[in-house]
Amino acid sequence: MHPSHTVTIELADRSYPIVISSGLLDDPSSFAHLPSASAAVIVTNTTVGPLYGQRLERALGPQFPVVHTVTLPDGEQYKTWDSIAAIFDVMLRNACDRSTVLFALGGGVVGDITGFAAACYMRGVPFVQVPTTLLAQVDSSVGGKTGVNHPLGKNMIGAFYQPVRVVCDLDTLATLPQRELAAGLSEVIKYGPIADAVFLDWIEQNLDALVSRSPQALAYAVRRSCELKAQVVGQDERESGLRAILNFGHTFAHAIEAGMGYGAWLHGEAVGSGMVQAVRLSHRLGYVDERFVTRLTEMVQRAGLPTALPVLDEADNAGRYLELMRRDKKAAGGAIRFVLIERPGCAVVRQAPDAAVRAVLGGS
Ligand code: NAD
Ligand code: GLY
Repeated sequence: MHPSHTVTIELADRSYPIVISSGLLDDPSSFAHLPSASAAVIVTNTTVGPLYGQRLERALGPQFPVVHTVTLPDGEQYKTWDSIAAIFDVMLRNACDRSTVLFALGGGVVGDITGFAAACYMRGVPFVQVPTTLLAQVDSSVGGKTGVNHPLGKNMIGAFYQPVRVVCDLDTLATLPQRELAAGLSEVIKYGPIADAVFLDWIEQNLDALVSRSPQALAYAVRRSCELKAQVVGQDERESGLRAILNFGHTFAHAIEAGMGYGAWLHGEAVGSGMVQAVRLSHRLGYVDERFVTRLTEMVQRAGLPTALPVLDEADNAGRYLELMRRDKKAAGGAIRFVLIERPGCAVVRQAPDAAVRAVLGGS
């Protein structure tokens, strides 16, 4: 059993704890002292529900007289309005009132959908994140970005809506497929270049332990990632400035995901390649040196993630990427903003000349 760590997201009266340990799903005290409610609703999917649904239901038993479960189909392609409607159907059919607490049991897809459903149901009910992927434990369950995809763009419909607690049971990572673990490592690696050069060194030294799921290494990676995210979100909840650095690699990644078709590459895989392109652009614009590009590229590769850019258009690949990147919701008036690494541990958000971006997209 790991020692339990609690990281707090400081947001005045909406502050909340992220509890990180093993064995949390089997311990009713993980879910004690939540807002009192006549019912809890667990939202999960067809993969995670059979693995952990009963354990969560049992742990919620002492606090909630009734526990309903909504089991969604598994996959990014179900991060849609239909899934939100399926949650509302169950809640309305069971006369859930505005004190009902929602529990998101799963990865980032379930977490984003459930958070958005919680933001909307009766204009807002409390929700708890119970993340079961590495990506969700280090990133998506924390910080209150919720939403669904639209056929014309990823995460285009949503709300900032904070959970009341995040419960990270590290044991759930044992059943995660290796490809999903690697995808989560991309979001761990991300924190080093943008915010903490010491953590970057630690990740580099412990990457093999992380890939082979050393419980100690994973526990520290989740804790430090959450601490860093907490610092950023505590200063800029709604991304009016600083929070944008958390999108390091994501401008390229969202273009990869949209261009390849959602689900072809995992989000974390696209972020892996996206970080490599972003650091190459940083170098081209005179920030980090060539050695840093090599260093980050090797880390992404060692994590088991792609480093190359997929070809989206044989005739005009750079043009296709630029078109997709201009559609990203971080673009302002068609101008693309990139998170660039000024030096290890320090990121800036800047526009870049098309020629430099084209050079990176063209592989030079
Ligand atoms: P995911 O939710 O699709 O989970 C990945 C796969 O692992 C799924 O098949 C899932 O069923 C399975 N799974 C989950 N936990 C498991 C476990 N313990 N054992 C076995 N299988 C398990 O993907 P993800 O990588 O967790 O999240 C990606 C999503 O998160 C994307 O939609 C992305 O946009 C979103 N995201 C949101 C934020 C945010 O701030 N809200 C940040 C990053 C990513
Ligand atoms: N994952 C980026 C953010 O939470 O802002």
